[in-house]
Amino acid sequence: MTNHKVIVALGDRSYPVIVGSGASTELESLLPKTAKRAVIITQQNIPFEVKLSLPNTKIFIGNGEQYKTLQTIETISQQFAKFGLTRSDVVISIGGGMVTDVAGFAAASWHRGTAVVHLPTTLVGMVDAAIGGKTGVNLEQGKNLVGAFWQPSAVVCDVDALKSLPERETRCGLGEVAKYHFLSGDDLLSLEMTSRIARCVEIKAKIVSDDEREQGGRAVLNYGHTLAHALERSSGFALAHGEAVAIGMIFAAHLAHVMNRIDDLRLAYHYKVIRDVYGLSVSIPNTMKRNQLIDLMRLDKKAIDGLTFVLDSKNGIEIVSGISEKYLNESFDAMQLL
Ligand code: GLY
Repeated sequence: MTNHKVIVALGDRSYPVIVGSGASTELESLLPKTAKRAVIITQQNIPFEVKLSLPNTKIFIGNGEQYKTLQTIETISQQFAKFGLTRSDVVISIGGGMVTDVAGFAAASWHRGTAVVHLPTTLVGMVDAAIGGKTGVNLEQGKNLVGAFWQPSAVVCDVDALKSLPERETRCGLGEVAKYHFLSGDDLLSLEMTSRIARCVEIKAKIVSDDEREQGGRAVLNYGHTLAHALERSSGFALAHGEAVAIGMIFAAHLAHVMNRIDDLRLAYHYKVIRDVYGLSVSIPNTMKRNQLIDLMRLDKKAIDGLTFVLDSKNGIEIVSGISEKYLNESFDAMQLL
């Protein structure tokens, strides 16, 4: 079967995203013609290899958010220097969202901007992290606080990489895939998984093309994320991002429902997609306390004007600020959290 090809349209920085089984065989043809050597950034536990004819070296970064640091960027940059990487060469990332974020930022900074090609190996990476040019690392004070918008030259989503993905990682990815059901009016359920991933990429590509630097519309990609970030923090990150996003979208649906923005059928559609189709948990763990969650949601990056959520409506998904705590309490009641 031929691979899907989606273009992220950004003028002279436009790039293709290839999706399909065996798509990584296209990698070499997608590298910048100026590249004489390549550095691959990956992790030891990623069982995905690519064939390259140009001289290359591999850099392994540690597993886990604790390695998503400026220190890692410094170490990578020193290895770029030792290898003699120039601005006309290329960085290739192979891994999940952490790898593509770190490699993207290292490439953005190296010689003030070196080409990067992403090969995401997780579902979250394919439908979200590798697309759209957000790169960065964490500080003690928070996630992704230092970074750059640096668009890749190409993204290659070889769905064969998903075969070896741990079950929990797949579940997390499905949380992000579910998000696209609500962002688009499409019947994503009628598509088989590879076409569904390609359609998610198309939806994200359009959003990024319209608002590359998140000055408006791109923020809808944070659907479900306001409660999700609070749940992740409140659980000490025991709840993974995709799991938290799934619960966060159910909460956002209840919020839209109590605010009369959506009807019973649309609320039920959220349960159908998230719980029944993707098998994700839709309950807030009863160890969580609603007051603590509300306090954490007030700290959300989007909250420039009171409690801010991305909410569904008859006209689609929108950013809504200044939400009364009364509606939050009604939504927690509906989800039976004390
Ligand atoms: N992951 C959200 C975005 O790319 O804007």
